[in-house]
Amino acid sequence: MFIVDKISNIEINTLRKCYISYVGLDPKKNTIQQALDFSKTLSNRTPNGLVLPKSGSEASFLRMQKKFYEIIFKKKILSYLKLQNCLVHFPASIRIASDNSKRNYDSRIPHFDQWVGEPNGLLILSLNLYQEKDGACLQILNSSNIKTAYNKKLKKFKKLNIKIKPLKTQNIGEVILMKDCYHRTFGGFGRRLSFEARFIPSTFNFGIKKNSIQSKLAGYFPIHFIDMIKEENLKFINSKNNFSKRLYPVDFQLTFK
Ligand SMILES: [Fe+2]
Repeated sequence: MFIVDKISNIEINTLRKCYISYVGLDPKKNTIQQALDFSKTLSNRTPNGLVLPKSGSEASFLRMQKKFYEIIFKKKILSYLKLQNCLVHFPASIRIASDNSKRNYDSRIPHFDQWVGEPNGLLILSLNLYQEKDGACLQILNSSNIKTAYNKKLKKFKKLNIKIKPLKTQNIGEVILMKDCYHRTFGGFGRRLSFEARFIPSTFNFGIKKNSIQSKLAGYFPIHFIDMIKEENLKFINSKNNFSKRLYPVDFQLTFK
């Protein structure tokens, strides 16, 4: 299942400006291309192009996250997320480059996310904010010829010898919400900027402790969740490159000041 929605040019520009100021440049003087070039030098960027939140720039990071959620929650996808009673996975991933390293899980190989251990029912939302001609984007593929169960965990992606039939290639400004979709990263290794948010059905047992920040975030989804993303209320506690630890439904623990 996938739903395609679109954000306006004004919304695209707003989010691009948020990104430009997050990397420390002036959105009035600098373009998104300059910000993406500058991003190559950032220390809080992973080898596969994720720009991670860092201590000291909470305000601009949270502003960008808040704007992103404000914009996407205005779209028709919100009613679907409400229907599914989803938990939000915070923060949304910001990706500026494509993965060009050799690894077991290369997202350019067609796959279901469950093959790499993602939970069943996971909803992924992807927003393409900027993509050069040779930049990468999300592509949804037809899975009708695939014999392997989508919900199986695979040790490695298997290159399935079948014809790839694209159902949808994402354009700039498009929001794609997908669930249990066969997909891949498509395109070259040029500059791009995308946001990716994850939503997990609240029936999934994460072992969330009562009154924990996770349970608060889950309970506040989605409108109060936006209100909670305020720098004056929240502060990142994992400031020292402790990026590998993954908690559900939030990647990053937040703490009240
Ligand atoms: Fe994937």
